[in-house]
Amino acid sequence: MIIAIDGPAGVGKSTVARQLASRLGYLYLDTGALYRAVAWRTLRSGIDPTDSKQISALLPALSIQMLFQNGAMLVLVNDVDVTNELRTPDVTAAASIVSAIPAVREWLLPVQRQIGQRGSVVAEGRDIGTKIFPSAPIKFFLEADATVRAERRHRELVAAGHHASMEKTYQDLSGRDERDRTRAVAPLVPAADARLIDTSSLRIEDVVEQMLAAVAAVS
Ligand code: DC
Repeated sequence: MIIAIDGPAGVGKSTVARQLASRLGYLYLDTGALYRAVAWRTLRSGIDPTDSKQISALLPALSIQMLFQNGAMLVLVNDVDVTNELRTPDVTAAASIVSAIPAVREWLLPVQRQIGQRGSVVAEGRDIGTKIFPSAPIKFFLEADATVRAERRHRELVAAGHHASMEKTYQDLSGRDERDRTRAVAPLVPAADARLIDTSSLRIEDVVEQMLAAVAAVS
């Protein structure tokens, strides 16, 4: 069974996906980490994230592995553990840009489907319900007001020790949203059969409970 969770940045996807997976005893697959890993490699190679030609040329020699250990996920790029370097503002911005490159999305498709083959997976991203696992029996699409999402993201950044103004955080998030929603390949849209949940005024626990009820209803 695969549970698909899609939605924009700052909507609470990762937190609810992780909690849902833990409550159900499922694997939590954070697909954004794969795009971040490609972005990390791009920056590390000194390549501009908009240079689709050079990035495409990088892919044949790239290996990305996800290791799952006691509920935690480690990301290895060419055998080096880069998990702790994937959430910096630079990698975040570059991930949004490289994720619009069709060759990158194509390259990551089998990587994601292979992990899905293990079964019992909560997969979280932007195109899980529409493209990666279109036949997932349960799909959720989370939405929330852009200001609320920017406030959440700002709190996360500050808690992680990054300096960021609220205004810059809002602008960055809106820019990424715009790119994710309007890109030509696999844009961020709800699958026709996704259950929509607006998390603007919901607590994480309430979202997880709603999801568990939906899962119980189809099991
Ligand atoms: O969820 P995240 O912030 O870690 O994702 C990083 C970037 O990767 C985000 O800008 C959009 C992109 N992404 C994507 O295009 N498709 C996915 N399934 C997951 C993430």
